[in-house]
Amino acid sequence: MLELRNRLAESIVDFLKENGIDPEREEIIAQFKKPDNIKFGDIAFPVFRYAKDFKLPPVNIGKMIKDYFESNPLHEIEKIEVVGGYVNFHVSPEWMFESLVQRVKERGDDFFKTDILKGKTIIVEFSSPNIAKPFSIGHLRSTVIGNFLRNLFKALGANVIGINHVGDWGTQFGKLIIAYKLWGDEKEFKKDPVKHMFSLYVRFHKEAEKDPSLEDKAREAFARLESGEELERELWKKFRKHSLKEFEKTYKRLNVEFDQVIGESFYSGKIESVVNLLEQKGLLEVSENALVVKLDDYNMPPCLIKKSDGSTLYATRDIAAAIYRKERFNFDKMLYVVGSEQRLHFRQFFKVLEISGFEWARNLEHIEFGLYRFKDGKMSTRKGKVIFLEDVLDESVDRIRKIMKEKNPDLKEKEREEIAEVLGVGAIIFNDLKNDRIKDVHFSWEEVLNLDGDSGPYIAYSYVRCNGILRNAREVEEGFVPNFTHNSEVLLVKKLFEFSEIIDIAYRNRKSHFIANYLLELTRSFTTFYHNCRVIGENKEVSSFRKTLVKLTLITLKSGAELLGMRLPDRM
Ligand code: ARG
Repeated sequence: MLELRNRLAESIVDFLKENGIDPEREEIIAQFKKPDNIKFGDIAFPVFRYAKDFKLPPVNIGKMIKDYFESNPLHEIEKIEVVGGYVNFHVSPEWMFESLVQRVKERGDDFFKTDILKGKTIIVEFSSPNIAKPFSIGHLRSTVIGNFLRNLFKALGANVIGINHVGDWGTQFGKLIIAYKLWGDEKEFKKDPVKHMFSLYVRFHKEAEKDPSLEDKAREAFARLESGEELERELWKKFRKHSLKEFEKTYKRLNVEFDQVIGESFYSGKIESVVNLLEQKGLLEVSENALVVKLDDYNMPPCLIKKSDGSTLYATRDIAAAIYRKERFNFDKMLYVVGSEQRLHFRQFFKVLEISGFEWARNLEHIEFGLYRFKDGKMSTRKGKVIFLEDVLDESVDRIRKIMKEKNPDLKEKEREEIAEVLGVGAIIFNDLKNDRIKDVHFSWEEVLNLDGDSGPYIAYSYVRCNGILRNAREVEEGFVPNFTHNSEVLLVKKLFEFSEIIDIAYRNRKSHFIANYLLELTRSFTTFYHNCRVIGENKEVSSFRKTLVKLTLITLKSGAELLGMRLPDRM
């Protein structure tokens, strides 16, 4: 569509030049609109702004443009209509179909990939759960959104480095160390390390309410850990190792990989150089016994760099990490996928980097997102108030398994198990990514698993259907002319053709819901097509054409799901 827009804009520039106006091509492209209803064409060009130049009403200018195209036709354009002050271009579905087929022939499964980011290095920092705490549903968002962005940038040709900035440092480890020394149980720990650590953590907070001296002890323990004391160090290593192992299981289920897993602890040794640098730049000030960088000029509270007891802070580690990553990877962009509640933190340390003279601080982006809200409150949790991701995934798989048992009782047990896992996990991923990330996710099981609704399983179902049709059909034939006999075929081709544009929009906004919603629309278009058009058993010409439409739908659904990080089953 991009190339077509260019050609269209060039023609309009030529027309305007002939009439004494000399606009840039980009200027014209920026004015193109998508008509609200596909009935009114695929690209609309408003002409109101030229009324003054032409000294004519917009409709007349529109007619002149139409005439111009009629004597200088573009083969991609099938029809032009002038409606009010708009020139509506209808793109030829035959041309769309043929250019899609051509692209798939040349590039196969990579048909949707481009190289617009070739040569760029992009870091996506995502997931970043905290050690010694279970993987909560809150970290799910960062994990799936980040994974999507990693996939997307890769598909656009960038060199992407996905980093898991594991929370393995900070005062909470002091708490955990103290709690473990007081109440730790080796046997319990062995059985379920994360669960045990979490219960210790919870207990610490309860007991500290009664006995505030525990907080001091925890601070001291963390200070000892930072200065490298043997005992604290050993305990910390043990907590870390078992937590990471546990997270690994979750990542496997979610089909997520990282290029680097580096914990915050890694940067604790790089703090002094940050402090020195800020000192040199004259940015450090003492405030309430801590070292801070004041940000009054930017309407922000001060950024805490170092506490009075010498222990380091979250922001300082982030500053050190950014500098380290710039030196190591020389990234063009770095994205942090972290909830909106940390907005201030990111604004603060981005600003500190900027006023320290790091020009590249402008290339840092906080990719923020909202919270989960549970509508029907029917989530079963093992451990009280916090909602754990594993429980949600398990419940999703259980529920989908039940639905499958009803719908397809003949499926073999083992196969059903595998498919239920793919569908159940995919449903959770899709349900997250279909929302504008800035907004909260309103979670309801009914919606997550609705086979006829806006859900992952709904897309999977269409995908499986496409697969079934092609499995029953002989190879897709070549060498036929597109033969549109039903409007639903036209609409399906137009939807398919939109994919590349949607990818571009998702990229520019760094938002998955454009792709997720597109997949839902494509699924709907396909369903309508399938309802109206017989694929197998028509004459060869028609069948071949329709099979190709099915094939294009299949690979588009697959590619979109791949970008979202959602697996699809071959049958269900
Ligand atoms: N571990 C942190 C948390 O769970 C998130 C880390 C975000 N990344 C960063 N560079 N600060 O709250």
